[in-house]
Amino acid sequence: MATNAQLFERAQQVIPGGVNSPVRAFRAVGGTPRFITRAEGAYLHDAEGRRYIDYIGSWGPMILGHGHPAVVDAVQRAVREGFSFGAPTEREIELAEAILALVPSMEQVRLVSSGTEAAMSAIRLARGATGRPKLIKFEGCYHGHADALLVKAGSGLATFGHPTSAGVPPEAVQHTLVLEYNNLDQLEAAFAEHGAQLACVMIEPIAGNMNFVRASVPFMTRLRELCTRHGALLVFDEVMTGFRVGLQGAQGLYGRLIPGFRPDLSVFGKVIGGGMPLAAFGGPRAIMEHLSPTGPVYQAGTLSGNPVATACGLATLREISRPGFFDALSARTRSLVEGLQGAAREAGIALAVDCEGGMFGFFLAHELPQNYGQVMATDKEAFNRFFHGMLDRGVYLAPALYEAGFVSAAHTAEDIAATIDAARAAFAS
Ligand SMILES: Cc1ncc(COP(=O)(O)O)c(C=O)c1O
Repeated sequence: MATNAQLFERAQQVIPGGVNSPVRAFRAVGGTPRFITRAEGAYLHDAEGRRYIDYIGSWGPMILGHGHPAVVDAVQRAVREGFSFGAPTEREIELAEAILALVPSMEQVRLVSSGTEAAMSAIRLARGATGRPKLIKFEGCYHGHADALLVKAGSGLATFGHPTSAGVPPEAVQHTLVLEYNNLDQLEAAFAEHGAQLACVMIEPIAGNMNFVRASVPFMTRLRELCTRHGALLVFDEVMTGFRVGLQGAQGLYGRLIPGFRPDLSVFGKVIGGGMPLAAFGGPRAIMEHLSPTGPVYQAGTLSGNPVATACGLATLREISRPGFFDALSARTRSLVEGLQGAAREAGIALAVDCEGGMFGFFLAHELPQNYGQVMATDKEAFNRFFHGMLDRGVYLAPALYEAGFVSAAHTAEDIAATIDAARAAFAS
C-alpha cells in the first residue's frame, strides 16, 4: 500500500506540484497532502487507511455529506440514461425551475460547469448589457481564475490593479478596480470617479476566501444604492454561500436585513452540483436575454447542463429544501464553533468565531476581522500548528487560515464532540 508521501512524490512527477488545484498541496500549512481513497457521510479515508472528520466537504459542495443515498441513486439512474448529449434535456429545465423558485432575484439562469466559468460569464454579460468596461472587486474575494479577476489593488485609492498571476497581461486587468472589503470611503471614492464607466461590482456577500468575513449591513446597503444610482450591476458571487448559508443564499439574509434588497446578477456553483461539475449564473430576464442565442453576448459549453451533473444537483436541492434542514444544519455548525471557542478559552487562547448555515470561520484573534488585511494579520504560525494538531487527531480542516469551513448534514453530535475534544488537545499541546 502506497503512503501519502509516496503518492505525493509520484504525483509531482506527472502533475505540476502534484495537485490539480494549488490549495490541495498544503503549501500554506506545510506537510504532506492526504490522498483520499473514499468518503462516506462526514468522513474521508486516506491512502494509509486513516479516517478524518471532513470539514472541507470538497470546498463546499458536499452539504449532505458524502454518498447521500438519494443523490447516489439519482446519479446512477442518470448515468444509465447517458453521460452527455450536447442537446437540451427536461432535467435542465427542472434544475433551472428549482433554482429560480428559491432565488427570487432571478428570472432566468444559465447552467455552466465551474464557478470560474459562471463568474467570468456574468462579468461578460454585465459588460455586454451595460455597454461599459469597468468593474469593481474586493481584496480577499475570489471569483475563480478568469484573467480580469486575477488582480490586486493598485497603489492609490480608486486606481486600477495589477495582475496577481504571471501570464495575465496588465491590459487584461486595466478595467478592474480592487477595493478593500467593508471600506465605505473607498467605495464612495470609486463610484465618484468611475461610476459612469462601471459595468458591475462583484462581491462575495459573505467572503469565504478570506476565512469567513461578512459584508456589513451599512456597506451592503450603500453598495446597493450606489450601483442603482450609477447604473452598475450588483453581482453576488454565491458560489460558496449559495444554498449553503441558507436556502435563499446570502441574498436571502441581506434581503431580510435591508428592505427591498436584491442583487442584479447572481453566480452559483458548489452545492448546486452536489459534488459534480455544475455552476450557474442568472438574473432578470431583461439582462439574461443579452446572452447568446437571444442576444449578442457570447457564452457556450460542451458539457453545460450535463445530464448526470444536473441529476446530482437536483437531488441535492431536493434534500436541502426539506423543512427544518437549515435549522438543523445551522444548530450543528453553531455547536461546533462555540465548542471550538470554548476549547480555546480553556487553553487561554483567543478565538473569534462566526458561522451561518453550514459555513463557518474561526480566527486566532480577539475580534472578527473585517477585511483581508486583518485576516492576514492573524497568527499564521499558530493556525498552522492547530491545523496539524487537528489533522494528527483525525480532523480535516481547510489547509490555510484564509479558507472557510463547512459542516454537512451528515455530521453528528458525536462528530462535533470528537472535534472539540481534538481541539482541546491540540490547543493544549
Ligand atoms: C466565491 C467563489 N467564486 C468562484 C469560485 C470558483 O469556482 P470553481 O473553483 O468551481 O471554478 C470559487 C471557488 O472556490 C469561490 O469560492
